[in-house]
Amino acid sequence: MSIVVLDFGSQYTPLIARRFRELHAYSVILPGTASLETIHAQKPHALILSGGPASVSMKNAPTPDPRIFEAGLPILGICYGMQLLTRHFGGRVEQVGRREYGKAFLTGFDGPLFAGFDDERRVWMSHSDAVTATPPGWRVVAATKENPIAAIESPDHRSFGVQFHPEVVHTPGGRTIFENFLKLSGVPRDWTPERTVELLVQGVQKEVGEERVLLAVSGGVDSSALAMLLARAGLEHTAVFVDHGLLRLGERAAVEDALRPLRVNLVTVDAKHRFIKALKGISDPEEKRKVIGREFIAVFRERAQELGSFRFLAQGTLYPDVIESAGTPGGANIKSHHNVGGLPKELGFELLEPFRHLFKDEVREVARLLGLPDSIRLRHPFPGPGLGIRILGEVTPERLEVLRKADAIFIQALRDCDLYTAVWQALATLIPLRSVGVAGDERRYGYVLALRAVSSVDGMTADWSRLPAEFMDEVAQQITRQVPEVGRVVYDITSKPPATIEWE
Ligand code: XMP
Repeated sequence: MSIVVLDFGSQYTPLIARRFRELHAYSVILPGTASLETIHAQKPHALILSGGPASVSMKNAPTPDPRIFEAGLPILGICYGMQLLTRHFGGRVEQVGRREYGKAFLTGFDGPLFAGFDDERRVWMSHSDAVTATPPGWRVVAATKENPIAAIESPDHRSFGVQFHPEVVHTPGGRTIFENFLKLSGVPRDWTPERTVELLVQGVQKEVGEERVLLAVSGGVDSSALAMLLARAGLEHTAVFVDHGLLRLGERAAVEDALRPLRVNLVTVDAKHRFIKALKGISDPEEKRKVIGREFIAVFRERAQELGSFRFLAQGTLYPDVIESAGTPGGANIKSHHNVGGLPKELGFELLEPFRHLFKDEVREVARLLGLPDSIRLRHPFPGPGLGIRILGEVTPERLEVLRKADAIFIQALRDCDLYTAVWQALATLIPLRSVGVAGDERRYGYVLALRAVSSVDGMTADWSRLPAEFMDEVAQQITRQVPEVGRVVYDITSKPPATIEWE
């Protein structure tokens, strides 16, 4: 009972699955080349072919199992997916020379996929190949100025191809298109967050069986929710919290206090010196991430040996971690999240990552159903490599001390002014440049400290938060008064993209 999304490597693939889940239709992502048997195992009602960076005319272009086209399932092909449909059924796909990227306006609607559309609609395009002739019997059901064949419909009115991306927020009618497709395919819309939890529980039970699990916890929502999921599934596990010396002020005690009442079998490892030593002299952000990832695993391995043997290492990895670490076929490496791209090759454990296809807000919903207290559930995201990536350049004990104090002032002020949950994430970054200032009659030569607060839904895109000027003024004064090593406080007003949330 599902929608199967076949992934051909688009960064937007998880958004497709997510949009269907939002419409209460269960959806799973499988590799684009999955066999028909694998697909059938999911008992699909319909298939989606995702976009992807390849060109269908390329020699090694990924293609689906050809039997999917004759399986009697309705298919919606998006971008590259539309081109796959076109090619299979005998239409023509060509490189049209220009790349259509960004906003376009869709008109000429026809047929059931566009039920409810009359006027021109804004859509998001990102392609260089285009369909230049529909397959025999198929018809064009929408067009843009640049692209006369922007959507097509099969002769039996059950399969469709769209050149634009209905899954992104920049296509406001996308939700209606997906709703129409669900209706046409007869997909039941009975999927609820409660069933997501049920499925996750069954999934981990099946994967783990009688084996032992070592769980990496950070005190954040993802790993804490995972602890609760394992408990709900009745799986024995030991949670290990590594104090890598890159935590925020008072964080270790706060995490221990938060997890204790949840009856998590918690082991804290003090590995401060080891991480600081390993990071000595390293300034490159990717190298820092790799060193931190390596040390994390070394600590887990050593602990595992002391505690008996464990087959699985469970991590609260989310989809954005996977995407940005180029964990999707054809994806780009934006940064190596410590728990994905930062891991060494020889791990020594099998990874258990049940949230690998979920976004932060979805995990928060799962966490609510599992009974995770709001104090953890609504915590801002905090990267695994911690303050290690919030100090630009080399990480030193002195810089850590400065950043810890300044960050604590900012976060406490947000809490005091009831702004903490109004922003998605807030952070301070230490820039190891000195700037001249004056305090009393003395010259001051202090660090630059950048504050950042963003609004976001899932961390994939973000906008900077318009915090009140009086609030920012108060925070800047407190920081420069209480942390004399900071000479200047600046506020980051860049959105993501083009920037990312962390500075690195
Ligand atoms: P960026 O900086 O890529 O961050 O816009 C998106 C979200 O992910 C968090 N982040 C990480 N989380 N391990 C994590 O667990 C990591 O290595 C990591 N790097 C970034 C970041 O704080 C933001 O919420």
